Amino acid sequence: MQNPTPQQLIARAFEAARFTYSPYSRFPVGAALLCADGSVVTGTNVENRSFGLTNCAERSALFAAVSMGKRDFTAIAVACPDAEQPVGPCGACRQALSEFCPPDMPVHYAGKNGKPVTTTIGELLPADSLHGLKEGLPRAPTA
Ligand code: THU
Repeated sequence: MQNPTPQQLIARAFEAARFTYSPYSRFPVGAALLCADGSVVTGTNVENRSFGLTNCAERSALFAAVSMGKRDFTAIAVACPDAEQPVGPCGACRQALSEFCPPDMPVHYAGKNGKPVTTTIGELLPADSLHGLKEGLPRAPTA
């Protein structure tokens, strides 16, 4: 099967936002992470009454994918169906994504209005002072 287009990946992110658990912010977010094997893993934001425990859609997708043994990713889309304009990943998600995703990996994000934005992990997290810590780490799960 062919890889999804950016538009198709964004559509998957909008679908994932339907599963949001966001009763406190009432701000649904969906993410769709394209894996190097061509599969797409989706995630949504999951809030908690202890607010600091909230997990963003991007990290839900990333952690689900890594939990399935996937560590190589080629694109991510983020959709905020209730936002007037596209909303990009938060700082925590930029850091978490950069652990696995190359700096030139495309990041697409969309709101209910406006043209979706396309950027890269490297543009979203330009000065990664901890980059060196990743050198030499295994890219594939070890048995
Ligand atoms: N949120 C995400 O899921 N991803 C982002 O990149 C920005 C924020 C969620 C967290 C919280 O549930 C709600 O949006 C409002 O901040």
